[in-house]
Amino acid sequence: MHVSYINLLAAAICRSGSWRSIGIRATSYRGLCNSPDSFEKISTIIRDKCENVVVMAGAGLSTPSGIPDFRSPKTGLYHNLQKYKLPYPEAIFDVQYFIDNPMPFITLAQELYPGEKYRPNLGHYFVRLLHEKGKLLRMYTQNIDGLERLSGIPGEKLIEAHGSFSTASCIVCGDKHDPEAVKKTILAGKVHLCSCKGYVKPDIVFFGEQLPGKFWLHNLDAIAADLLIVLGTSLEVHPFASICDAVPYRTPRILINREVVGSLGLRDLDHVLVGDIIENINKLAQEMGWLDDLIALQKDNENA
Ligand code: OAD
Repeated sequence: MHVSYINLLAAAICRSGSWRSIGIRATSYRGLCNSPDSFEKISTIIRDKCENVVVMAGAGLSTPSGIPDFRSPKTGLYHNLQKYKLPYPEAIFDVQYFIDNPMPFITLAQELYPGEKYRPNLGHYFVRLLHEKGKLLRMYTQNIDGLERLSGIPGEKLIEAHGSFSTASCIVCGDKHDPEAVKKTILAGKVHLCSCKGYVKPDIVFFGEQLPGKFWLHNLDAIAADLLIVLGTSLEVHPFASICDAVPYRTPRILINREVVGSLGLRDLDHVLVGDIIENINKLAQEMGWLDDLIALQKDNENA
């Protein structure tokens, strides 16, 4: 009994792609969707009615920066992995597969290493602006591209739930390694080896691995939040996706994404902006009277 409880708990805290948002799909959403009215209502909520915003983000936040997402048909990374000859697309982030064949991840990591060629976009700066206006309680991101950090969102406000390239460890003995040395090896197309001969990988959370301890802060943040904003994610991967269901019913939730996902749209206080994230954030910022601040923030950060 005790052992199976522990196993259950371990399964719950490990990253999994198979859990769905308790089977709910938002096929008919009640929230307002892309009418001029919806921009007005959402902007009033953000500008005038909230002080503790929790943001959840996924790969759709970074596609405007030129990084493909994972699951979009045709353009998503998982649809374009033929060259790696993977048994199934998610294998690229599977620890067991990495032990057998690390090269697909190494090749992908060369492309994705933060600070090499991609820059934050208006969506990242919108979240930074929430912080500048004193409204950001926390941003939870699944992204490993480091663009949130580059946009200037401070570390204490940011939870990189699927890890990052900023630290690295041996997958066998757990020893920490100099991230710059690991980066150099990976950019040279090789696997970094530990003194124990185990492979070293950047601390990106692979399927079957535990999320960083900071992620569990969401249990408190979800209760303290007076608004949840969900940006550019399919909400397919748990436990990350479950944050949006942990937020109480009295808390408004706003989804900005190409399509309706998870349970978003099923609650009376949900609002859904379907379409391109940058277009919608642009319109929203304009409606809120924040557009000049947003553009200035982006310019200042890029020139710094
Ligand atoms: P997905 O690729 O599953 O979902 C991205 C979502 O963003 C989809 O709903 C897209 O329609 C939407 N989207 C893409 N571009 C957009 C745009 N310009 N405007 C609006 N919406 C847009 O990515 P995630 O939900 O982040 O693991 O996937 C979760 C995890 O699965 C990732 O963290 C990744 C993967 O295994 C790691 O990186 C380690």
